[in-house]
Formats: sequence, C-alpha cells, structure tokens
Amino acid sequence: MNEFEKNQKAHFVSNMFSRIARKYDLLNTVISLGMHHQWRKYAIRKMEKKNYISSLDVACGTGDFSFSLSKINSMETVVGLDFVKPMLQIAKNKSTQSNTDKLTFVLGDALELPFKTNTFDCVTTGFAMRNYESAEIAIQEMSRILKPSGTIIILDMLPNRAPNILQRLALWYFNKVIPILGTIFARDKEAYTYLPNSVTKFYDSNEIKIMMESKGIKDITIKKFGLGLVSLLIGSKN
Ligand SMILES: C[S@@+](CC[C@H](N)C(=O)[O-])C[C@H]1O[C@@H](n2cnc3c(N)ncnc32)[C@H](O)[C@@H]1O
Repeated sequence: MNEFEKNQKAHFVSNMFSRIARKYDLLNTVISLGMHHQWRKYAIRKMEKKNYISSLDVACGTGDFSFSLSKINSMETVVGLDFVKPMLQIAKNKSTQSNTDKLTFVLGDALELPFKTNTFDCVTTGFAMRNYESAEIAIQEMSRILKPSGTIIILDMLPNRAPNILQRLALWYFNKVIPILGTIFARDKEAYTYLPNSVTKFYDSNEIKIMMESKGIKDITIKKFGLGLVSLLIGSKN
C-alpha cells in the first residue's frame, strides 16, 4: 500500500465512523446479538487480579472497553483514544452519566500514540485492528507504550479460514445479513458491507499472534467467541 492509498483508508474509515457514530452502539448490540459485552467482560476478568492502575483503550470509539476497564477496582486511570470526534463525543457523554473520574478521552492516532514509552499497565483495542492503515505499526505502538510485563488485549472479528458447518452458517449471517441490518438500523449499507469485506481480507488470529511476537509480546493466548467469528488475543510485554 503506497502513502496515497494509506491516507485514503484513514480518510474512508474516519468518514464512515463519523457517519455511523450515533447508531454505532445500537448496531453493535444488534450484530453481536448483545454478546459483545460478554466478550469484553471475559477479557476484563483476566485483568482483575493483576492490580493494574493504568490502561489505554486504543480506538475506543464510543468507549465500551474503556468503561469496562474503569470497573476494575485497582484501576486509577483509563485513557480512551480515537481519531473520530463524533465517536469520542458519545464516549464523553456516556462517561458524564457513568459518574467516574477515572476516565479521560483524547483525540489521537493509533499509529502515533501521544504517550511515552512504558507508560501503561494494560492496553486494549476492540474491533479496530482491521481499520488501521497498518496493523503492524498499531501493534508496535501498543507494545511501546506498555510497561514491561504489561498486558495487551486485542478483540476483533478475524477470518476463519477453515470453518465447520455451524461456522459457515455464522459466516453467512455475517456476510449476508449484517449489510441488511446495517441498512435498516443505521441507514448505511456501505459501512456494513465494508465490515464483512474488511474481515475476509484481513490477517487471521495466528498471523496477528506472530505479528505481536515480532513486536516483543509473549505468552499470547487466543480465545474464540461467536462461533469462531470473534478472536480475543491476550499477551504480555517482554
Ligand atoms: C469498530 S469501532 C470500535 C470501537 C470500540 N473500540 C469498540 O470496541 O466498540 C473502530 C474504531 O476505530 C477507530 N479508528 C480507526 N483507525 C484509527 C486510528 N488510526 N486511530 C484512532 N482511532 C482509529 C474508529 O474511529 C472507530 O471508532
């Protein structure tokens, strides 16, 4: 991908999320049949006994992962970062209602995180890897801002190259039904056609794991949800 194509992707992605921001939470719940809260909770539960005090949620969108992180008792600071203002605005509105002073939301680029090396105990990124111009740079940046032994959590829809019969049914739902739901609920067929397309062309969980290892992340576990459509990768910095 050349420079022009890279900028085009960022432009396309930020326009798309600006457009669908107000419908994003509703669509997330419809598409995942409400399960995305459970997947986030599973990841957060793994952090509860670590006594972490700081975390960064990269491409936080409307802030669901940030809010989950802020519920960990030991957590003192949670920063949510995104490059789309309307998504951040919704996160900020939700944080006013949630009555917590642990959370801060900032405008910024996942590929150039505005934080010093070795700053956070934990970094998350939910359903965002496919949207970055470079997954590799995003992982490198997340690894950089993590403290040694800190935890990285990547939750995303990733391709399943060898689906069984049930998983093929899930893929049919994903490829055929989701664009229809997007058209009905968000009035945006393009955004919800982009979603399945972006998954098909992306790296699978083993390829992401190898990429994480090459950026200094070890002890990586992979857990699958939603009939294999969703992958959760958790690892720690060397
Ligand atoms: C599908 S949403 C995920 C939102 C949230 N993390 C969640 O779990 O629901 C993808 C988000 O990635 C953000 N994003 C994509 N590329 C980005 C980048 N380079 N820097 C910051 N945010 C980015 C988009 O603005 C959007 O809010």
